[in-house]
Amino acid sequence: MENIFYTLFTITYHLGAFSVFSIKFNLPTKIVFERGAITKVGYEVEGLGKKALIVITRGGSMIKFGYLGNVRLGLEARGIKYVVYNNVSSNPRAEEVEKGVEVAEKEKCDFVIGLGGGSAIDTAKAIAATLGSGKPFIKYLRREKEISAAYPIVAIPTTHGTGSEVDKYAVVTDVERKAKLTVISRHIYPKVAILDPETTVTLPPQLTAATAFDALSHAFEAYVNRSTNRLARVFAAESMKNIVENIEHAVKHGLNIAVRTKLLWASMLAGLAIDLVRTALCHAMEHPLSAFYPHVHHGLGLTILMPAWIKFTLESAKEDFAEIAEILGLKTEGLTIDQAAKAVYNFVVDLREKVGLNFKLRDLGVKAEDIDAMVENAFTYMKALIENNPRIPTKDELKKIYLESY
Ligand SMILES: [Fe+2]
Repeated sequence: MENIFYTLFTITYHLGAFSVFSIKFNLPTKIVFERGAITKVGYEVEGLGKKALIVITRGGSMIKFGYLGNVRLGLEARGIKYVVYNNVSSNPRAEEVEKGVEVAEKEKCDFVIGLGGGSAIDTAKAIAATLGSGKPFIKYLRREKEISAAYPIVAIPTTHGTGSEVDKYAVVTDVERKAKLTVISRHIYPKVAILDPETTVTLPPQLTAATAFDALSHAFEAYVNRSTNRLARVFAAESMKNIVENIEHAVKHGLNIAVRTKLLWASMLAGLAIDLVRTALCHAMEHPLSAFYPHVHHGLGLTILMPAWIKFTLESAKEDFAEIAEILGLKTEGLTIDQAAKAVYNFVVDLREKVGLNFKLRDLGVKAEDIDAMVENAFTYMKALIENNPRIPTKDELKKIYLESY
């Protein structure tokens, strides 16, 4: 398996205009996946720099559970200095990146460690890119300037949702434009990704479910999208299978390390899948939601939108969803393709209920009168992902999907 991660694939079997065998994959990230890996941080990052900026969110869980302590000890053992930057919210903002850049410059940091969920890792990537390419960060976020370099990045995920540790994306909110935007650059692949399942056992049940649903959405959207390919589907299939087999158990018995290991494995694979082919409409709809309502957790937002997204997309991707039904081990014997595809919808609706995430947008305080603006926002900033969906909605259809989730 490891070979796959380090191999550059360029397979071009052109079967007509589009082929799932048209693949380009180059992952420059060293993946360290094992129990207890966090205690080896010092060894794994040696040579990347002399002083690290450690980025964490301001919630305090990295300190409370000792993960920050583990990283600090590991760095100290190798004589690597560090400074901690914790001014990061759960939907990180451009100004939080800029402040992190200032701290890193003042403290003369020469590499950046993101420790935590997607917000910490994405902020670390954005800070590293700005340090390498020049201020201000907002120019890269708005695509007015291209990232030309980045300081070395180390990603240590402590949730099983983001996949950001193995991809070239960083999602940050442009508060002025009320838009959650994605920076895309080959320069922001982490140099090292340290995945330690033991750091995920402290996730509370709702975050366990919501982050696993983020990964599930990555896997679904990578499997069912216009640019999908065979390699992305291999990653996505293995990912979704592991998620549905383990999510319920993880919610009920969070300390089960075997289950956590499989979820972290699954989120990493889903990250590889979207690194190859991006996400699609479900993410295109969630970004406006958490841009308008920053208290909404990304994974939770996806969970709410997912059934309506599947229902809308099914029509143009019946075979794909029927394949997913097989992958998930649903009973498909004797079913037509239509019925097998619809079985995925029913399965997801049930799963949300079982893991305690059976919410609607109104439960999160979303106002119905904001939906038109969210539709406009999606069509302004998320067009690439909308157009990556097998079925491309009109504005009216997009509104209907939001309303169905309301
Ligand atoms: Fe996501």
